[in-house]
Amino acid sequence: MDALQTLDISSWTGPFAEDQRRDAIAALESGCVLFLPRLPFALRPEEAPLLTPDLFSGRAKNISLDPSGKLKHASRETSALQAMMQRFASSAVSLVSGLFPGYAATLERARTSYRPVEIAGRKQSPIHDDTRLHVDAFPTRPMRGRRIMRLFSNVHPGDVPRVWNVGEPFADMAAKILPRVKPSSAAANWFRAATFQTRGLRSPYDDMMMGLHDNAKLDMDYQRATPKTEIRFPPGTTWLCYTDQVMHAALSGQFVLEQTFHLDVAAMGEPARAPIRVLEKMTGRSLA
Ligand code: SIN
Ligand code: FE
Repeated sequence: MDALQTLDISSWTGPFAEDQRRDAIAALESGCVLFLPRLPFALRPEEAPLLTPDLFSGRAKNISLDPSGKLKHASRETSALQAMMQRFASSAVSLVSGLFPGYAATLERARTSYRPVEIAGRKQSPIHDDTRLHVDAFPTRPMRGRRIMRLFSNVHPGDVPRVWNVGEPFADMAAKILPRVKPSSAAANWFRAATFQTRGLRSPYDDMMMGLHDNAKLDMDYQRATPKTEIRFPPGTTWLCYTDQVMHAALSGQFVLEQTFHLDVAAMGEPARAPIRVLEKMTGRSLA
């Protein structure tokens, strides 16, 4: 299976051809990155001043926009920034619901982010270092098996690509790393929830996903030895994948917009491919 599946569409709004939809969902759910080289997210001329890292406040990882419309981690309040992110979010919702009609009813639009800082050479602690291969897991937001899908557009004004590494299939990674993940105690999880460190109680699934994320990032031998494919996403292109399933690392690049979606496993075309189902099969128990 290739790490990348190219989809030849050039509009954020459907309807999309049935064979395109069928190929897209099969590739996405089997752990490919869907690459849309002919789908740019076009900035408006008056948005050019937003292409500066100065807009980022330096706290957290990126500038984000809540679905409620609240802008976070921007160094200044700009309605232009908010409007650009809002427009990107609407485009992303339109594309994903057009391409995956089976998802549309229960698809949850989560945060939108703007990433105006060059990633290469950025100082991050090992756990927060996204230049190391990982699957996404949220420390504060238990998912209890729900999926994390992310859609990205490179809006760099020059010719600088977003460079990723994509690693081995989820099940192969989990077979190596899961035996080392220490189970979290139920008491610790209750404490985290009671002191609002997590929004609700972490399930065994969330513990495992955090464990896989942290252990993979901290294991430099794994990082070096694991098979990987480098992918370059040029400016003017869009891509999406299940980041809770695809081992990914962002090596370099600047000026990317990203939209996160959450989805119930039951809405998938093939629920057996969800990380929770894979981990349940490996461990022989129910995880959420
Ligand atoms: C990540 O999700 O690990 C980072 C992806 C990116 O910013 O390109
Ligand atoms: Fe990630």
